[in-house]
Amino acid sequence: MSMKLVFFILMLTVVLLEAKLNFWGDLVFSRKAIFNYLFSKDYGVVRVRKSGEVKTAVNNVTTLDFIGLVEKNGYSAEEHYVITEDGYILVLHRILGNPVFKGQGSRKVVFLQHGILCTSDCWVLIGADKDLAFLLADKEYDVWLGNFRGNAYCRSHIKLSPQNKEFWQFSYHEIGTRDLPSMIDYVLSYTKQNTMHYIGHSMGTTVLFTLLSMRPEYNAKIKLGICLAPVAIWKEISSFLEYIRNKMPKILEFLESHEIYEIASLSSTSIRIGRTLCTDKAITQAVCIAIMFLTSGSDTAQLNTTKLPEILSYYPAGVSVQTIHHFYQNINTKKFQAYDNGYFGNYKKYGQMTPIMYDLKKITAPLALYYSVNDLLAPKSNVLEIYKQLPNVILLEENPYKLFTHLDFLWAIDGKTLLYDRLIKLLQGFDDQERIIDDEFIYF
Ligand SMILES: *[C@@H]1O[C@H](CO)[C@@H](O)[C@H](O)[C@H]1NC(C)=O
Ligand SMILES: *[C@@H]1O[C@H](CO)[C@@H](O)[C@H](O)[C@H]1NC(C)=O
Repeated sequence: MSMKLVFFILMLTVVLLEAKLNFWGDLVFSRKAIFNYLFSKDYGVVRVRKSGEVKTAVNNVTTLDFIGLVEKNGYSAEEHYVITEDGYILVLHRILGNPVFKGQGSRKVVFLQHGILCTSDCWVLIGADKDLAFLLADKEYDVWLGNFRGNAYCRSHIKLSPQNKEFWQFSYHEIGTRDLPSMIDYVLSYTKQNTMHYIGHSMGTTVLFTLLSMRPEYNAKIKLGICLAPVAIWKEISSFLEYIRNKMPKILEFLESHEIYEIASLSSTSIRIGRTLCTDKAITQAVCIAIMFLTSGSDTAQLNTTKLPEILSYYPAGVSVQTIHHFYQNINTKKFQAYDNGYFGNYKKYGQMTPIMYDLKKITAPLALYYSVNDLLAPKSNVLEIYKQLPNVILLEENPYKLFTHLDFLWAIDGKTLLYDRLIKLLQGFDDQERIIDDEFIYF
């Protein structure tokens, strides 16, 4: 697709967004379809294990579950459950390695943490020899994948149901200070290890920063933290985010009045739209692409459009409105701090009138930051600001491919050569260095 066409589509999308919902009503999409896409309460997604069982039926749609996605590629996987101290039941996944490889002894743990609107599925959608998770398994790593409360896998609680408002009263503060430590402790104790490598994408880095600053004792458990498209401080925002920011008070009011506490969850409607309107054959695919590019950066060369219906069967997978609100507050105040509940709420929750600041200076675990100049959600100036405050960054790397976007970190056609090969080398170098130190220690 030529740049001109992409630009035209972007403009068209902006115009359509500007034209408000009534205009959409006259289009192929009914207003109801858009509403259902963003605020669906009909879950209706059935998870299956075998590719042959995946279909889009009238009443419900089926998709593979994580284990099915992994087995499709010739690997095997496990599912584990963790209950957080406040009662959320989280699902952890683990890839058991390539059958070709018969590794001995204990493998080094790498924990992959997805970002906003994703699940562990997001790491295994492209396939063997391409996805970071499979490449790590090939290199003999013990690959674990986390899931946040509220995403498509984590909609259970020991007392609450997702129908309750209380279920959704969380943001990245709770995810960082409760979900992440529960998952990390579970994995370390299960594998009998003291430390792990951590790889987070987007909000998967935000929650790591939150955890390591709020509970500094966790720094000792992270051997190396790799931050892909890190998000914490908002010095600069894209014009699209600026547009949303201006509309935010109205949007929040609308959501509150309709008792909507989560948005963009995975539903039979969202999957059906992805599978019909975003295929290579549909003229509406251009709109799907435009929306992705508008939010995360445009890069036609690295997006495999044939994969869109598949990707959109797993993404977006839901986020609490409070998480969005938390980002909005941090963007407005330009501060990286906890969710602001108002004076009394803050006092009750944090023991002080103002939200707690997340102090990046307390993060002593070694970190590597990877960013790209064409990433609209983690622009260079924001990453440099984070870098300035972090005391122990061992690598700050700009992607040499200038068009690399926020979503390319997950789904770029050439992700392996553009990023993952170097990243794995860094991890291995880190482990080798440690091995040398260990050996010397034994030798003396
Ligand atoms: C979904 O549809 C299939 C048939 O297409 C049916 O066997 C299955 O029970 C349905 N599941 C639910 C939860 O309605
Ligand atoms: C794009 O995805 C399709 C469907 O999975 C696949 O057959 C094709 O090889 C992919 N193209 C590239 C360039 O990776």
